[in-house]
Amino acid sequence: MKGVILAGGTGSRLHPLTRITNKHLLPVYDKPMIFYPIETLVSAGIDEIMVVTGGNHAGEFLPLLGNGAEFGLRRLQFSYQAHAGGIAEALGLCESFVDGDKVVVMLGDNIVGHGIAPYVKHFMDQRQGGRLLLKEMEDPSHLRHLGVPIFGKDDRLTYIREKPETPPSPYAVIGIYMYDPSVFEVVRTLKPSGRGELEITDVNNAYVDRGLMEYDIIDGFWGDAGESIDVYYSVIDYVRQFGANKLALAALTV
Ligand code: G1P
Repeated sequence: MKGVILAGGTGSRLHPLTRITNKHLLPVYDKPMIFYPIETLVSAGIDEIMVVTGGNHAGEFLPLLGNGAEFGLRRLQFSYQAHAGGIAEALGLCESFVDGDKVVVMLGDNIVGHGIAPYVKHFMDQRQGGRLLLKEMEDPSHLRHLGVPIFGKDDRLTYIREKPETPPSPYAVIGIYMYDPSVFEVVRTLKPSGRGELEITDVNNAYVDRGLMEYDIIDGFWGDAGESIDVYYSVIDYVRQFGANKLALAALTV
């Protein structure tokens, strides 16, 4: 199993902070943001990671993360996304790194209270397809900035709606996605969206259409620190009080 962390983008929602650095290098309590997703993947047993970054501050990742040994990584590689072409385009840059394995993709601004090892185990046991992690949101106003799933018969996923005006369910599709190696064929079929990007939600809907997308509903805290400046600060407050990537209770039972 390989890991990919997507840490590019312009971070426009956190301007002007992101004019002086990459969003994923901003502090979240006592560490740079990018440390958290690395620790999430490492604590789920993934020790080969590619970080895709971009923009003017990409060079700062190398001295910060080094060869990854400090995190327990066996292999840390970097790629560079030349334009803001979307999350799915950034994932497409990782094809030779993933090299036919399964892959867990994590957005570099997503922070979880509990580790994801039990869900990664579910995916390891899955023969093919993809797996999404969902989080029930207490405050539905967030859902207008996120991907929101629609469920059909037997609670199967039927569609994911990106940034809906009226959320069709109380769940967010969080930025942790698990795919079989066919994901790179899916990426090649994508057309740019209205904002000119290859959308990860289109990748996910391609799996949903084929009936090959499973999901888990996660316990505990989840935050997208890049969602807005207020969410950024609420994520910092949470991490300062409770920490992140704690061992999930569910991990003890799988
Ligand atoms: C992306 C995805 C969205 C997902 C979110 C999670 O949105 O497009 O479906 O819910 O990440 O962080 P973005 O933050 O790039 O707008």
